[in-house]
Amino acid sequence: MIGENKVLFSGMQATGNLTLGNYLGALKNWVSLCDEYLCFYSVVDLHSITIRQDPAELRRRARNLLTLYIAAGIDPEKNCLYYQSHVSAHAELAWILNCFTYMGELNRMTQFKDKAAKHADNINAGLFTYPVLMAADILLYQSDVVPVGNDQLQHLEITRDIAQRFNAIYGDVFTIPEPYIGKAGARIRSLQDPSKKMSKSDENPNASIYLMDDPDTIMRKFKRAVTDSEGCVRYCKEQPGIMNLIDIYSACTDKSVSEIEKEFDGRGYGDFKTAVGESVVAILKPLQDRFDDLNKNKDHIDKIIKENAEKAEYYALKTLRKVQKKVGFPERVR
Ligand code: TRP
Repeated sequence: MIGENKVLFSGMQATGNLTLGNYLGALKNWVSLCDEYLCFYSVVDLHSITIRQDPAELRRRARNLLTLYIAAGIDPEKNCLYYQSHVSAHAELAWILNCFTYMGELNRMTQFKDKAAKHADNINAGLFTYPVLMAADILLYQSDVVPVGNDQLQHLEITRDIAQRFNAIYGDVFTIPEPYIGKAGARIRSLQDPSKKMSKSDENPNASIYLMDDPDTIMRKFKRAVTDSEGCVRYCKEQPGIMNLIDIYSACTDKSVSEIEKEFDGRGYGDFKTAVGESVVAILKPLQDRFDDLNKNKDHIDKIIKENAEKAEYYALKTLRKVQKKVGFPERVR
């Protein structure tokens, strides 16, 4: 809690081009959560360097992601949108929490195992302690809730374990965060292989709709989307491609599955794909326009970045100072 407000924390990495899956699955919900919580949304660039990055590219993408948070409708006056690397308390708290985390616990993290297998030439210590940095992110702001996808749930559990362990030794220092269980964001799948999640790192560009795709590209990708030979728009496991398109259409139009089935009863996939494509363009085009407008005013964005980093740091330092005192660091004389 901060004052009267429940605190929500989440972060996204600025690696890869964000997809429609990131938007409908996360960002769109982040916007609506701002009504209920004081939200801290970070561009988690410290996490990103656990995988080798091109520096200029990382910087460019981080800026775009932060701009996109604003373009999506998150109010930077009421919430806090900032780069993780601008608030050094994240790294400092992560170090302390490292000393309260066991190798055995980290060894069980399935994402570490996956990433280590994928980047066998660079299994660095940062990749291993990635969840501890995530714990620091969350605990620094005394977060009550964290909206996370299934892939991050294990990291939230270890965050709770670390916090409880610390509190058991030093008293009530950290709020124990809960996963945010709300209306689940739509889980969008690849347009080329609906058994896979739509991913920003997919090699096939036709598999993903990128948030910056122009309308023609969007329409073309939907035309090529993999379906089946059933020929009817029905929400069932045997038709995973159609299910995915229904999910997308539903998320973009707020129509229910049964309304959609009725709307396309007796009509072919061609019609349906066109409608899905148009519904996505209707969402993404205004988002892109707002993004372009924001980018025209560099000073405005710079000011938001500065003010929000200061705001984040103010709250982060309150927690960090308390923790430093608890573990026995000398009193600060400056
Ligand atoms: N690891 C998260 C991801 O890749 C991003 C992240 C970093 C995060 N710190 C966080 C998410 C804290 C929630 C809370 O998706």
